[in-house]
Amino acid sequence: MTLGIETSCDETAAAVVADGTRVVSNVVYSQLEQHREFGGVVPEVAARAHLQRLVPVVEEALARADTQLDGIDLIAVTRGPGLIGCLLVGIAGAQGMGIAGGKPVLGVNHLAGHVYSAFLAEPGLKPPVLVLIASGGHTDLVLVEAHARYRLLGSTRDDAAGECLDKCARLLGLGYPGGPALDRAARLGDASRVTLPRTRLPGHEFSFSGLKTAVRRHLELNPAPDQDAQHDLAAAVEMAVAGQLVDGLDRASRRTGIDRVAIVGGVSANTGLRQMALARFGPGQLTVPPLDLCTDNAAMIAAAGHFHSAAGETPAYPLLADPSLELG
Ligand code: KG4
Ligand code: ZN
Repeated sequence: MTLGIETSCDETAAAVVADGTRVVSNVVYSQLEQHREFGGVVPEVAARAHLQRLVPVVEEALARADTQLDGIDLIAVTRGPGLIGCLLVGIAGAQGMGIAGGKPVLGVNHLAGHVYSAFLAEPGLKPPVLVLIASGGHTDLVLVEAHARYRLLGSTRDDAAGECLDKCARLLGLGYPGGPALDRAARLGDASRVTLPRTRLPGHEFSFSGLKTAVRRHLELNPAPDQDAQHDLAAAVEMAVAGQLVDGLDRASRRTGIDRVAIVGGVSANTGLRQMALARFGPGQLTVPPLDLCTDNAAMIAAAGHFHSAAGETPAYPLLADPSLELG
């Protein structure tokens, strides 16, 4: 039984996962309301909110799993990448619980966590798997060669996919948080009414900053769009981002000959991306986690911790936060 703890950004999360594959409890406290008035995550506000919520969230995860710290074999906590103050709260909490309960505490890479959301969604999934991580801070194409062994094939050169969606939503005045707002607006629009550029780079790299600039220029030329025009533009942005992601994953799958693929991270919650990916890849070929495992959660951290521990990784004390920790 692994207790997972995630506090890298604006979600305070704890979960209990059995055998690395079965979610027993999964509690997420979202700080959305604390950050709304600022239009983005304020690091100090986030760290303070983690401090207030961490213990109650862990207690709730244990209670929902009908267990106590005694029943836990391993504590897995995100140690990066993320906001330093936020990571420190999670790590200090996890190590305090580890010392109090005599439990090993393993530091987990947040991106490895996202990768393992695919293994939680599909317990029969076996490496090698090609995983596209699309979140607010990352757009990475990762080859999972074996459990806990990753090879980074390519990343974004500039903005992450989620960052691009958030910035475009802000330009469009769709509100906060941008990604989900853009998703809702896109459902009401017609993408074919607006032409936006799609950047295609050689190799396995992505780029999204040109799209954001194109949206800004489009709005300069067509100021004060009515609601229909707003929805059409949102749909076009969504299609452009989803198209680049799905094309990139498809191309990587052909080049590497690895036909088992997954899309994970907050952006994989996007309706248009999910539809496009399901149409491109066969149902036996593609894994996209259910929505609660796409966005930040601690079940994925527990699962990653379990498999990394099984692969021979050992706990370190003291555990150090690393805001720019890389995968592999
Ligand atoms: O993985 P995540 O929850 O946190 C990070 O590790 O960054 O990803 C957050 C990102 C944000 O950019 C958010 O706008 C985006 O995922 N996102 C979405 C949707 N839900 C979350 N983007 C598009 N459509 C959605 N439904
Ligand atoms: Zn994340």
